[in-house]
Amino acid sequence: MEGYLIATWKMAFEGVKKGQDLIRQGGTIHKAIMEAVKTVEDDPSYHSVGYGGLPNLEGEVELDAAYMDGDTLGFGAIMGVKNLKNPIEVAYDLCHYKRNCVLAAAGAEAYARKGGYPFSPMLTEEAEERYKAQEKNVDTEKLEAYGGHDTVCIIGRLGDTSACGVSTSGLFMKLPGRVGDSPIIGSGCYADSEVGAAAATGVGEDIMKGCLSFAIVEKIRAGIPVQQACEQALGEHIARLERSGHKPGSMSVIAMDRDHHVGAATNKKAFPFVVGTMDGETVLFAAVNEGGNMSVICPDEAWIQAYQGD
Ligand code: GLY
Repeated sequence: MEGYLIATWKMAFEGVKKGQDLIRQGGTIHKAIMEAVKTVEDDPSYHSVGYGGLPNLEGEVELDAAYMDGDTLGFGAIMGVKNLKNPIEVAYDLCHYKRNCVLAAAGAEAYARKGGYPFSPMLTEEAEERYKAQEKNVDTEKLEAYGGHDTVCIIGRLGDTSACGVSTSGLFMKLPGRVGDSPIIGSGCYADSEVGAAAATGVGEDIMKGCLSFAIVEKIRAGIPVQQACEQALGEHIARLERSGHKPGSMSVIAMDRDHHVGAATNKKAFPFVVGTMDGETVLFAAVNEGGNMSVICPDEAWIQAYQGD
């Protein structure tokens, strides 16, 4: 399977469609990725990204985002920011710098304000209701990623350029200041135009332990086909976590090589992902894991209706 764009979760469908339109109109891969991520960030019906994201233990939405340009290896990220409308815009801005390209909390917010990036309240009424209904005495050691959605990750390739952007509100009821894999280079995403790119979604603390996105890119660099690279990197990492006595949380990955071949893998039962194909279509696929055997399906309407998630 080949594409210009590949994205995590069904919720990325509209964004990928817009990204495909921009590519058709002659836009850069960066424009297409940014548009795709921003579309998810702006949609209040998704509870793990941007506006509408579920809050931390104190009821505040804290956002992380990252962008990597595979031509320059420029990496920009922000973490733990509040009330910033489109975190991905600031991450993309920062990927152009050699220093100070990863900014946290108040420093990131000050940078964004100075740059004129829009701020607005990110806690929706619905997210606040969910927070109010939630037991506050949660065991923060047992937090899990969302059932059927999490970080939006968009990978793209156009001409000789690979790139990726990711954005998330992190785990619901996380400790204030908690940062997951998304803004950590090589964990939440990695792009190298000589090879391709990979990105991860799921429990950040577990993804980070294996620098999972970098591990996939290095397998592709070694000549392993992209689908196998995804399955191998994820499988080896899960096995390593289990040998350490650790029960891995949910993790799903996507990747695209320099020839536009795409791959995806998951340790969940099913992981929907979206591909913006080379002939301009936007297609929903799902990686299905049956007892460790991975297959990729093109789900029918009945499967999509039955799927519980974004
Ligand atoms: N994968 C998103 C997070 O753990 O924050």
